[in-house]
Amino acid sequence: MSEEANMWAQAEQTVFSQLTGSDLLVENLKLPADFIWGAATSAYQVEGGATQDGKGRSIWDTYTHLEPSRTNGENADVTCDHYNRFEEDVKLMKSLGMDTYRLSIAWARVIPLGGRHDPINEAGITFYIRLIDTLLAHGITPSVTLYHWDVPQALYDRYKAFLNTDEFRADFERYARLCFTRFGDRVKSWVTFNEPYIISIFGHLNGSLAPGHCLQAETDTKTEPWRVGHTIILSHASVVRIYAEEFQPSQNGRISIVLNGHFYEPHDATKQADIDAAQIRLEFYVGWFGDPIFLGRDYPASMKEYLGHRLPRFTPDDLELLKATCSVNAFYGMNHYSTKFARQLTTPAAEDDWTRNIEESSVNSKGEEIGPASSMPWLRIAPSGFRKLLNWAWDRYQLPIMVTENGCPCPGEADLEVAINDQFRQRYLGLYLDSISKAIYEDGIKVQGYYAWSLMDNFEWSSGYGPRYGIVHVDFETLKRTPKGSAYYLQQTFQERRKDQA
Ligand code: NOJ
Repeated sequence: MSEEANMWAQAEQTVFSQLTGSDLLVENLKLPADFIWGAATSAYQVEGGATQDGKGRSIWDTYTHLEPSRTNGENADVTCDHYNRFEEDVKLMKSLGMDTYRLSIAWARVIPLGGRHDPINEAGITFYIRLIDTLLAHGITPSVTLYHWDVPQALYDRYKAFLNTDEFRADFERYARLCFTRFGDRVKSWVTFNEPYIISIFGHLNGSLAPGHCLQAETDTKTEPWRVGHTIILSHASVVRIYAEEFQPSQNGRISIVLNGHFYEPHDATKQADIDAAQIRLEFYVGWFGDPIFLGRDYPASMKEYLGHRLPRFTPDDLELLKATCSVNAFYGMNHYSTKFARQLTTPAAEDDWTRNIEESSVNSKGEEIGPASSMPWLRIAPSGFRKLLNWAWDRYQLPIMVTENGCPCPGEADLEVAINDQFRQRYLGLYLDSISKAIYEDGIKVQGYYAWSLMDNFEWSSGYGPRYGIVHVDFETLKRTPKGSAYYLQQTFQERRKDQA
């Protein structure tokens, strides 16, 4: 073992000694026989082929090239080169026993300029047909996300993308119709948008993701994130209606959206303000989208009260559309990684505050940490928070849950030996699967499936190639794929956990 690997192995041991002796021991609890599992990726993060076969540019091509320091000096022009290596990747998924694969379509690959009157790129369509057919030929069910953060740059140049609701919505409807028409005979599971919270806040307030709006630029961070969210909600509802009316009767697929969210515990469990803060933080994070989309109603009262005129209003027609489409959503797509503490601040909030002046942290008022840290300081092992979030989403929305992303990068994973023997991740995954089992069998919640994030190490947005979330290691010099211990762990644990379950 190299010196560095040795150092990290010791660091991991320290983390594990924190883990053992606590309730953080994997119990290998059962899962239903028809529970499905697989892995997830997104187009920009794994495909590469940035300009290959007529692909247009997306806001991420611009964001990474314009000021490379924003993405650790790196971009995803090549990344895992999945565009040219997908056959090898599908074989790998098959060899690991996956039932399903969650991928996203790069809008600019199929409509390079993105708009409703712009030409279609047949080569891009062919790529996705080949990928989907290869999956099906290997017995792997595709789940396809239409939008995982990569709006065509031309639409941003024309009308600032999400900031023009009517234009965006019309262009997204055409793009979705194209996908349903060309892929819908083969794809039976659709997701419209991935993580609307992140698109709105990180892309249009913090500026840490494309298109990078933030207070310094000539933007209005007081209102823009909420306008972006509004556009996403209405575009989702329109596309759900299109699918239900024009495609579902013959294609028989399912459609929904993927919402991410941490769970929140009160920073000081003896203070009512912090207890309320934990609930309100969930409403601002998840209820923002979940209430209009899944319940067919207005934004949560807590948001309307705090944000006032900063929050756009739904018209009576909008509300009718939301009401008409909410029950078409067939599942709650949940991306979940970790839990945080929420603390109600009393000091004045910033003008563009988006949290109702609630601070998040990994340590509570007693100085206790929420859980052992992965290589991302915010991402800690906290499986009981996961179970609580499953309960929260189920109680509020009463929809079967698909866990569309879950995973972590390990401490020390830059070293190949540590990556391959990724004990930390195996422990994390095992504990989170136990939480799903408890949610199903003890709490009576319908959880139908699980996707590890990610199939393979890839371009982690503003962190570039630093954090490695894959269950398969990728050497970014040679592009060689090597399954990590966690890939084999998942293969085996799903076999065992699902054995003989009614
Ligand atoms: C959420 C996003 O959907 C995905 O693109 C990202 O890489 C992971 N979480 C990890 O941060």
